[in-house]
Amino acid sequence: MKFIQSVIFVMVLANILPAAQPGVYGNNGVVVAHTQQACDAGIEILQAGGNAVDAAVAVSYALAVSHPQAGNIGGGGFMLIQMADGQSVAIDFREMAPGNATRDMFLDDSGKVVPGKSVKGGLAVGVPGTVAGLQLALDKYGSLSRQKVMKPAIRIAQRGFEIPYHLAYSFGWLNQSAAGFDETRRIFCRNGELYMPGDLFKQPDLAKTLKLIQKHGNVGFYSGEVAEALVKSNLKYGGKISLKDLENYKPVIRKPVTGNYRGFEILSMPPPSSGGIALISMLNMLEPMRFDSIGWHSAQHIQLLAEVEKRAYADRSVWLADPDYFDIPQEKLLSKAYAYYRMADYDSLTITPSDSIYPLNDKDLAKIQVLGHESEETTHFSVVDRWGNAVSMTTTLNWSFGSYVTVEGFGFLLNNEMDDFSSKPGEPNSFGLIGNDANAIEPGKRMLSSMTPTIVMKDGKVLVVLGAPGGSTIITTVLQVISNLVDFGMPLQDAVNAPRFHHQWQPDMIQFGPRAISKDTANLLQQMGYQLSERSAYGEVNAISRDRVFGGWVGAPDYRITSHGKAY
Ligand code: GLY
Repeated sequence: MKFIQSVIFVMVLANILPAAQPGVYGNNGVVVAHTQQACDAGIEILQAGGNAVDAAVAVSYALAVSHPQAGNIGGGGFMLIQMADGQSVAIDFREMAPGNATRDMFLDDSGKVVPGKSVKGGLAVGVPGTVAGLQLALDKYGSLSRQKVMKPAIRIAQRGFEIPYHLAYSFGWLNQSAAGFDETRRIFCRNGELYMPGDLFKQPDLAKTLKLIQKHGNVGFYSGEVAEALVKSNLKYGGKISLKDLENYKPVIRKPVTGNYRGFEILSMPPPSSGGIALISMLNMLEPMRFDSIGWHSAQHIQLLAEVEKRAYADRSVWLADPDYFDIPQEKLLSKAYAYYRMADYDSLTITPSDSIYPLNDKDLAKIQVLGHESEETTHFSVVDRWGNAVSMTTTLNWSFGSYVTVEGFGFLLNNEMDDFSSKPGEPNSFGLIGNDANAIEPGKRMLSSMTPTIVMKDGKVLVVLGAPGGSTIITTVLQVISNLVDFGMPLQDAVNAPRFHHQWQPDMIQFGPRAISKDTANLLQQMGYQLSERSAYGEVNAISRDRVFGGWVGAPDYRITSHGKAY
């Protein structure tokens, strides 16, 4: 083993101080989320005496109104909760494959994946989980009524909000891409008479749906008129969701995966997310390395992380899936011993080509053809309250505006999460991610996710709450923020704002955002044999950390996308 091992290099995380300009500071609570309306909703609930879970439910519904690209009631997600009394849980409200889904539903007669079939239209839609997940969270860990926590979202939908520039831009893009999806174009694109930034955007149909949920809870969504309209709209675009699928949907309370990185406890999302296991496995691979002589984003730093990421994503491709359908070697993947073994062939001076990194020695996967890459969507928010309860939640329709199917008369979009299954084991999905039998489509199964809501703890107390959108890049984004904090002693806002890079094993290339890799460093990496690909900014990390100076909380909205924070 050629890499330098060390005794554990302990950075003092007292370095988590606000940057020159921390996003927000609050003694009693902080919400950091994509839209101002969502932050306002969360703070309104905290101020009304609600806890972090109550506020998170309010934020999530407010995002369904104010961030239609990803906020949703027609999608799913994961909520990681750390209560001040020590309880920690992961609520899984991931979508499920409909009861009549089949393994080959996205293949043509010759067995080839039909491009776009798992991404656009009715077949792309998984049975939505958000409404049931939020209800479960509220029932078990909240303190206020559904009537109360849903009020802000209903108000925003009824009264409307001023469309920000980037949302008007997205609606324009949707108008071009969603030809044939008439209800979607009617609601979000005014049938082609596009909204301008600053226009008021009211959503009476969505307000009506939210009121039905407010009044009847799960029944108001999973049966009755909303469910019937959902099934009808899905069927109109070729989908397979039945009323029975909706009635049968169940969120699940799971045990978070846990790890330890240089003395900090890491709490993250278990399967069906790959995020928590891949994150902890990468941190385990990094832990024996010394960072005191490595420059941040130097060739040595980027090479180390890229090699770690390749190994974790190779394992992801074979060993992670819905745990109710596949026996995951979780203990092994999370162990420090396995991480040590995984890095045994690591050489700090050379590249290990992805084709020679096998998922736990599965050599069948050496050659894989890779499809193109599209932009990602999903949204993450973080909440803490005055008692020290924390929520880290990531929720999604999968791609921006999901399947483009809007439920007629009820104003909400349906996800295209079926693309997160392996349409054909061994071939990549639209994120370029490879999956295998473990993640093949089966009725009632949850598709593998990369969403990584995470909480970093010290001595049993919440220290940092974080997560990100960005499809396959989510896990490496969370990894880099944690490493920026722990290994490079950055203040939270700097750690969040810092440019990032990403390797996911296949395709065998380092993707990097603006200013993430200097020209000199790029030359060094290319001389070593790395392929580099510059891309747009990605990964809106919305994080919170305990403030060591004043004892409250610092919220760090990601500067690169328009995200927001609010405190009280
Ligand atoms: N749909 C993105 C993810 O769950 O990873």
